[in-house]
Amino acid sequence: MTSMYAEYLTEKTEDKIIETPMGFATYRYVPPDTVYIIDLYVRPVYRKNGAASTIADSIVEEAKKNGCKKLLGSVVPSNKGSTNSLKVLLAYGMSLQSSSTDFIIFEKDI
Ligand SMILES: CC(C)(COP(=O)(O)OP(=O)(O)OC[C@H]1O[C@@H](n2cnc3c(N)ncnc32)[C@H](O)[C@@H]1OP(=O)(O)O)[C@@H](O)C(=O)NCCC(=O)NCCS
Repeated sequence: MTSMYAEYLTEKTEDKIIETPMGFATYRYVPPDTVYIIDLYVRPVYRKNGAASTIADSIVEEAKKNGCKKLLGSVVPSNKGSTNSLKVLLAYGMSLQSSSTDFIIFEKDI
């Protein structure tokens, strides 16, 4: 079953969402060859067990089939837990791409 938020995203935006019992991610295709993971969330009891990586892997697999060659992720330093978010992106093999006020973008070739 999809959540009401998923229904909203699908109706109102071009963004996509993957929902599992453990967590969800929203993502967006950025033409011509990039996919951007916007939000990634894993329920606390399921954390530190590879769930986020598994969700990211499934986005990457779909994106590669759609011709993507680059993955983007971002961190908002002022958000709660942003240092952990940063660690997760680095653990996933992402590199710094650019930054602006309170917004850091990471990238990875896929
Ligand atoms: C961030 C979040 C999605 C990680 O989910 P998770 O299922 O625990 O992550 P995984 O188990 O797939 O871990 C992926 C990698 O990040 C590392 N990692 C995960 N949480 C970490 C933490 N709190 N501190 C340091 N490293 C962490 C893991 O060790 C793993 O690295 P490895 O492959 O080298 O072992 C989850 O903690 C969460 O939902 N947090 C709140 C929302 C949030 O901050 N989202 C932004 C993510 S960019």
